[in-house]
Amino acid sequence: MSMAISSDESSVLAQLPEVMAMDRITVRTERPYDVVVGAGASRLLTDVACGRRVALIHPASVTEQARELNALPTDSVEIIVPDAEQAKTPECLLTCWQRLAEAGFTRDDLVVSLGGGAATDLAGFVAATWLRGVDVVHLPTTVLAMADAAIGGKTGINLVSGKNLVGAFHQPLAVLCDTDLLGSLNGREVRSGLAEIVKCGFIADPSILECIRAAPQAVLDTGSEQFRTVLEAAVRVKAAVVASDPHEQTSHGDDVGRERLNYGHTLGHAVEAHEHFTWRHGEADAIGMIFAAELSHRYLGLSENVVSLTRTILSDLGLPVSFDDVAWSDLRATMALDKKTRMDPTTGRRVLRFVGIRAPGSVAMIVDPDEDALAKCYRSLRTD
Ligand code: GLY
Repeated sequence: MSMAISSDESSVLAQLPEVMAMDRITVRTERPYDVVVGAGASRLLTDVACGRRVALIHPASVTEQARELNALPTDSVEIIVPDAEQAKTPECLLTCWQRLAEAGFTRDDLVVSLGGGAATDLAGFVAATWLRGVDVVHLPTTVLAMADAAIGGKTGINLVSGKNLVGAFHQPLAVLCDTDLLGSLNGREVRSGLAEIVKCGFIADPSILECIRAAPQAVLDTGSEQFRTVLEAAVRVKAAVVASDPHEQTSHGDDVGRERLNYGHTLGHAVEAHEHFTWRHGEADAIGMIFAAELSHRYLGLSENVVSLTRTILSDLGLPVSFDDVAWSDLRATMALDKKTRMDPTTGRRVLRFVGIRAPGSVAMIVDPDEDALAKCYRSLRTD
């Protein structure tokens, strides 16, 4: 997969002097857009909105930050939604649509999300569906949303039957990652977001791993230069992957498309489900990445050093590196429902597909691994 990274000098943001002091990464989808990373990036909303009326969708937990957004047009609409996954419900979606209808929201108006991944998913889906699609700008307030959820146009809500079952691809107009908004996050939230950044190091950009190895404590400080460096590098990885395969359609053999962002997620999602979503996404993915590294060692010749590096880096960041809470058979059954599985047409069997690595930056699919190997990889996650 070619992952060209380039910038677009014609974008509104490219012309602004304050953006020069920040990192600006262009996501080259059908309609290219910028992700700006830096302290104070949310102030660019005024320039991006360009006087358009705004529907600001955010959870109550970021009301203070919402108040600090400068000068939204006076006829803007504020829609306060529940925190986290509670926002991604059909009921909440309906409330948002009703508020837009009452306000007579038109195609010239702009949806803005302020919050974590749940807010960007919901607001993105509201924008994707209102009048068959209006513009959305994301102002992520968590590390996870900045490095992952806000970029790439995945939007959606949950049903009782499962997460993200209803959704659409709808690329934003811009993503403003204001690192000043991260100051009030607790350590657990920061660590969880960093797991996604570590993932980007393993699938595409080993310089991220070097930076974390050199100064894990500095990386944990969201005000540090080291943090900004790894965040920006992860955004570049995400932007390039999304540009190459915006709709997650192009994995064929060794040419792994957007699915590569799922490194560690196959077991990670199963762990999240079995822990009843009391674990943060990144905590579960940390376990999933160690599992994926062990599997990659067996199937793709990944060196033992890199498997051990996976444990060291995640542990240095205070993320979990061992797990034996759940019987293997239960996790295995949940993994059979993973979205990457395919039906074998001859046997009717669901075949597991894992994203693996040959080395940091070199991704390949592991298709239908042996059941004994899977169980052994799981046993390697035990504490004893
Ligand atoms: N979060 C994975 C993706 O955007 O594809």
